[in-house]
Amino acid sequence: MEIKVLKSYKELSSIVADIIEKQLKEHLLSKLALPTGNTPLGMYEELVSRKLDWKSVITFNLDVYLMNPDHPQSYQSYMRKNLFNKVNIYPDHSHFPFRPTEAFEDKIEGSMGIDLCILGIGNNGHIAFNEPGSSFKSRTRVVDLFEQTIKDNSRFFDSIDDVPKQAITMGLGTIMESKKIVLMANGDHKLNILNVAMNGEVTEDVPASILQNHDNVEVYYCD
Ligand code: PGA
Repeated sequence: MEIKVLKSYKELSSIVADIIEKQLKEHLLSKLALPTGNTPLGMYEELVSRKLDWKSVITFNLDVYLMNPDHPQSYQSYMRKNLFNKVNIYPDHSHFPFRPTEAFEDKIEGSMGIDLCILGIGNNGHIAFNEPGSSFKSRTRVVDLFEQTIKDNSRFFDSIDDVPKQAITMGLGTIMESKKIVLMANGDHKLNILNVAMNGEVTEDVPASILQNHDNVEVYYCD
């Protein structure tokens, strides 16, 4: 698969924002799947600055920690801070994975599915919180986070002991039903896993490798 290499983080953020802007302008009732983490921060900043119309947009976040949603490090807080409080989206239109997880899946299905899914990639090849070994058929579910993921994410918390050990994530099967998928990766520490995932063996040991089986995926990288 082609990995489009960009010159800068600014370009990465702005190209992915362009794709979302096009989606929102062409389809007022767009359904987006959205990521958290460091990588998409610039993209959210860019989107906010473009003053797009979000009033008919429905969003589904890819994953949440199992923790108080009002905690400053929850993904709900992240989304409010970086996007939802700054655009005209209806609070009822932004969904986060919840239990029972089948009801979250029903919500996606009831909205006629995800048009555009934006993904990051973890250092171990995870997408959303589908850690290595996740079934390619997996649906939204509660998962235990791997040690490496807890360590990687501890930079956002006062101490590693404060990082939640469990999360609710969209499954790989759920993600693959999106009509279009864009994966963004930033930093040379991601380049090796990105190459393995996009051009190596398609295996559940490398969750992102499932994207090789999707016919509408774009992959963007900058170091
Ligand atoms: P990051 O996370 O953007 O903070 O590197 C990506 C991920 O783990 O999916």
